[in-house]
Amino acid sequence: MNRREFLRNSTLISMAASLPKFSFAQVKADDRIKVGLIGCGNRGCGAICNMIEADSNIKIIAVADLFEDRFKSHLPRISNFCAQKKISDEVFNINTVKKFSGWNAVDEILSTDADLIVDASPPVFRPGHFEKIINAGKHAFLEKPACVDVTQVRQMYKLTKLAQEKKLCVVCGTQRRHHAGYQEIIKRVQDGEIGEILSADCYWHQGGYFGQGLWGEYTDEFCKDPEEMEYQIRNWPCFIWTSGDHIVEQHVHNIDVVLWALGDSKLPKIVRSVGGRSNDLEYPKYGDRFSHFATDFDMGDGLHMHSYASQDPKTKSQVGERIVGTKGYIYTNLYGTQTMTDYKGNVIWKAPSSREALVQEHANLLAAIRSGQYINTLNPLINATLTAITGRMSAYSGLEFKFDWALSKSRESLMPKELKFGKNPISPIPVPGKNQLV
Ligand SMILES: NC(=O)c1ccc[n+]([C@@H]2O[C@H](COP(=O)([O-])OP(=O)(O)OC[C@H]3O[C@@H](n4cnc5c(N)ncnc54)[C@H](O)[C@@H]3O)[C@@H](O)[C@H]2O)c1
Repeated sequence: MNRREFLRNSTLISMAASLPKFSFAQVKADDRIKVGLIGCGNRGCGAICNMIEADSNIKIIAVADLFEDRFKSHLPRISNFCAQKKISDEVFNINTVKKFSGWNAVDEILSTDADLIVDASPPVFRPGHFEKIINAGKHAFLEKPACVDVTQVRQMYKLTKLAQEKKLCVVCGTQRRHHAGYQEIIKRVQDGEIGEILSADCYWHQGGYFGQGLWGEYTDEFCKDPEEMEYQIRNWPCFIWTSGDHIVEQHVHNIDVVLWALGDSKLPKIVRSVGGRSNDLEYPKYGDRFSHFATDFDMGDGLHMHSYASQDPKTKSQVGERIVGTKGYIYTNLYGTQTMTDYKGNVIWKAPSSREALVQEHANLLAAIRSGQYINTLNPLINATLTAITGRMSAYSGLEFKFDWALSKSRESLMPKELKFGKNPISPIPVPGKNQLV
């Protein structure tokens, strides 16, 4: 088998395996699938609208959030969407949907008869929630990233195996994987249309901070003290322990595309990153995360992936991926185009417009649950999350290390010992050269 055949075959194997019919949470083809949502924020409510658009033969039976106020501020988005699309209140009814809040909300929603749970809570909670979802025998839609540190990565690899054993479907919020334009162009790369792959670059340059203020959501009315756990969770994109930092939380999308193009069989060998934090980013109000990262992932055999992630207001935005081959290159951007170009500058192929990926991912999950054709897209997300985590670890420490060392030896664990409201002192901003690699 040559390198190209290997890339293509390994991708197909990892995306969907045709396993025996009938999953643990059994659903018949025309049943109304019962759905529960954990994390009623921007993406959680957006994901529910996307799911309803994908297949309205569902019923949102329950929602859970740490903070009760989110029901009032965010659930109307779903009712407004249903009203606009003339969706029956059999699908969603803001008054009768069960609402659970507080630290026990997740246990409570899992004791309902939901078939499928959407988890759109902050990344640090994903492994704990997923473990409970699997133990409750429910299918899952998990937002990205998979988790925030290597300790959680190990837990997630075990849990995805458990989900496979229990035949519980899992689809993740790496929506590019479900976009027809991306699927076609990645297949063309794997079929050798740009020749042998020489290098890859990926970018998430965002012209603003993701977190407090960016989306106009100041949370000062609830909690003003950055040293309080409530402040940190409400402003989770600003804090390393809650988000994993934006190289993990956002840029994981672009890293995932490169690993996908490489056939989901290659992980980095050596990692070297630089990063820092803008003087303009007030500490501790905007947490302890970095503003920018640039990472050289040595993928072995002379192949490198260069990854760039930044969040600085009024800087130029660029979100996309470039895979460079001996005969040409591709450039992909989810909300732009996916094009293949030769070295004479001719566009050899350009994807036609595709169905909204955020809808298609739910269509794929619901179809799999109905048909019994097993789907589990979690492993590639864990790989991409781990890759991003190693980039962060290298940037914070200023050190180069072997990727295998991180997975087998790192003891990094960001989760606080106890999850309860009150003081939770935040760490100082990491200083490369001083920060320990653990
Ligand atoms: N796939 C995508 O394109 C995409 C886009 C945006 C966000 N996301 C991901 O979705 C997730 C949520 O992001 P968001 O923008 O909706 O954030 P958000 O802050 O708007 O929503 C998160 C919600 O989770 C709740 N929450 C916090 N801790 C909880 C806990 N322990 N149990 C239950 N609920 C809890 C919060 O109160 C909040 O309502 C993140 O992982 C983010 O990376 C994915």
